[in-house]
Amino acid sequence: MEIHDELGQLLTALKMDVSLLKMRLPGDQEVAKRADDMRELVERTIWMVRNVASHLRPAALNYGIVSALEWLVDDFGRRSGLACQFRLNGNEPVLSDAHATAMFRIVQASLTNVARHACATRADVTLTSTPTALDLHVSDDGCGFDQEAARRDYSYGLLGMSERARLIGGSLLIDSAPGTGTSVSIHIPLQDGL
Ligand SMILES: Nc1ncnc2c1ncn2[C@@H]1O[C@H](COP(=O)(O)OP(=O)(O)O)[C@@H](O)[C@H]1O
Ligand SMILES: [Mg+2]
Repeated sequence: MEIHDELGQLLTALKMDVSLLKMRLPGDQEVAKRADDMRELVERTIWMVRNVASHLRPAALNYGIVSALEWLVDDFGRRSGLACQFRLNGNEPVLSDAHATAMFRIVQASLTNVARHACATRADVTLTSTPTALDLHVSDDGCGFDQEAARRDYSYGLLGMSERARLIGGSLLIDSAPGTGTSVSIHIPLQDGL
């Protein structure tokens, strides 16, 4: 998160400085071209930082997915001031790093969306673990949104969450409409050797 946010911000500032510098340059074609190249390089670096950061395994997972989600939900509650609760139904699942990381990042992105967009008073995260499947729900009592419009606008956050779920053999379903709150559900069928 820190790499993503702080390094991302520094690089964005650098990109703006390069643009500003370019506008102030005297009409030297070669120098202007160099400034354009610099800007493009910074842009590629920003993209890479995002990509690398999203693949890092969160340190919170050192103590297992359940305590990681407990920590995430508590921390989110403290920062956002919203009432938040985590609930586990069933036993703590044994997961691969890839599965645990994907689940953690999906919940993190969902909670960030609640804070940014929902105007909610509460958020609930529930993990239901059975021998045959994992079900993860993140719900809020906020304003909800028009999913058709979100699809039309290519919502990269939501697409990224779906993609993460798909990569671990799961599926992501969003239930939302204006005025009804939002719930994000991930279903992961379990086989041996997760
Ligand atoms: N929990 C939520 N409550 C209300 N609106 C939401 C929620 N989650 C997502 N949205 C809507 O869906 C859009 C797309 O979300 P996302 O792909 O994560 O993009 P971003 O968060 O960068 O805007 C948001 O801009 C917002 O309008
Ligand atoms: Mg988002």
